[in-house]
Amino acid sequence: MTRRFYVTTPIYYVNGAPHIGHAYTSIAADVMARFHRLAGDDVFFLTGTDEHGQKVEQAAQAAGVAPKEFADNVSANFRSMADAMAISYDDFIRTTEPRHIASAQALWRKVADNGAIYLDAYEGWYALRDECFYGEDELVAGPDGKKVAPTGAPVEWVKEPSYFFRLSDYQDRLLELYEQHPEFLGPHGARNEIISFVKQGLRNLSISRTSFKWGIPVPGDEQHVMYVWFDALANYLSALGYPDADAPRMAYWPASLHLVGKDIARFHAIYWPAFLMAAGIDLPKKVFANGWWTIEGQKMSKSLGNVVDPRELVAEFGLDAVRFFVLREVPFGGDSDLSRKALITRNNVELANDLGNLAQRTLSLVARNCGGILPERRMLTEDDAKLLGQVVVLPQLLAAQFERCALTDALEDVWKVIRACNAYIDHQAPWALRKTDVERMADVLRVLLDALRGIATMLQPFMPDSMARMLDQLGVTQDERTFAALEVALPGGRQLPAPQGIFPRYVEPEQS
Ligand code: MSP
Repeated sequence: MTRRFYVTTPIYYVNGAPHIGHAYTSIAADVMARFHRLAGDDVFFLTGTDEHGQKVEQAAQAAGVAPKEFADNVSANFRSMADAMAISYDDFIRTTEPRHIASAQALWRKVADNGAIYLDAYEGWYALRDECFYGEDELVAGPDGKKVAPTGAPVEWVKEPSYFFRLSDYQDRLLELYEQHPEFLGPHGARNEIISFVKQGLRNLSISRTSFKWGIPVPGDEQHVMYVWFDALANYLSALGYPDADAPRMAYWPASLHLVGKDIARFHAIYWPAFLMAAGIDLPKKVFANGWWTIEGQKMSKSLGNVVDPRELVAEFGLDAVRFFVLREVPFGGDSDLSRKALITRNNVELANDLGNLAQRTLSLVARNCGGILPERRMLTEDDAKLLGQVVVLPQLLAAQFERCALTDALEDVWKVIRACNAYIDHQAPWALRKTDVERMADVLRVLLDALRGIATMLQPFMPDSMARMLDQLGVTQDERTFAALEVALPGGRQLPAPQGIFPRYVEPEQS
């Protein structure tokens, strides 16, 4: 039976332009979606923009534009960033769309009908930057001695009528969820943090605001707009057609994986499952939090002027080098630093040298010495079998790494095989065999071509464009690019196209 795989990115606030931090989660989710498609799963991949709330309203005011018009522009910019990064989303949801508004209201009604919402008044701290309520005990001293949120965001005292969600009623069920399903939340650090936060006791959550207008009206009480996180989290269901149980996309629920940044794990691992429990809806299978990027060792910020638009990196280094770098540099889940030097080194050492040269050397030997024709697969020596044995297990090995969101480890597994291929080619020296044993030369090249096919197939999710070109050069047809297709050896005798370099070395332009 085909397995369904529903993966989501966070929906991005439209209060500012997209940057590399946003692109990061989307790239990771895209790699997951592409991997599962190639594994034969039925995938639905959702991304989009989070367009309501006070933060967006204020950004629009500052720009002197109506909030909807402002959101239209910024949302289009996020979509074009996703396209530029080859994010293969199946849908792009915007929270200002009527389908989302109706769906979020239906979810609210369901939660309210089940008795989990009541009207009261909120008095407490609110951090606009985080769009988050904080308890007095969570605040810390800021640089000027003033109280700030644990994230460093400024807080203000808010006092207004508000609907509340009975979050405290769900404390035990949430702890049970983390306990019984350790795979629900990762990585370990985020899981421990959330568990200890919940153990300290949950307060009921204010889920509506009356002091501004830019939000989804609370059903039955138009004085209130929904708290932006209730509205935003509902996107994962609204895009599927909730509450219409017959909507074909509802078959994708529950989500297989919500990928999020570590700063928003709390919303996804506490509030979201609690809302769903209250609504009687199945819970997502997994929430995984990725780390944050700094730029050349510094926090990314508008005031420092170091905000990186991923499209600029792509223009300079190429898309696949950027996609590769962000997932290769640090174990997925940890924080990481984007430095020019590290990016260039990864590109030159691992892409241009380890992989690019291996392909180029092999393919040019085939072009020169075999007339560019794919040699037959014949008897394997022990060395051949050992190398190909490492390739054959890659789909299974990577599936296990993907299951635990270990994208960097998955890349390392492939790179081990690439390094083994480089050792093999040096040891077998097919260029020398040309003079001594032409048949063995052809066998060695065939082993290398098969290994490269396996490697390029497995790397497609990470670097779709360059691996498509590599598979073209290896004479692999479109139908032969799935993981399952690897089980069938290509028939010999195919004419391969003329080899072309895939990963150029990056040379810093001369400073003048
Ligand atoms: N709108 C909410 C998410 C709602 S999901 C139902 C939101 N939006 S955001 O635009 O502020 O952030 C979106 C994502 O970008 C978060 O996962 C956040 O962690 C990520 N990043 C923002 N800056 C980042 C870095 N510097 N590095 C890595 N990721 C960062 O939160």
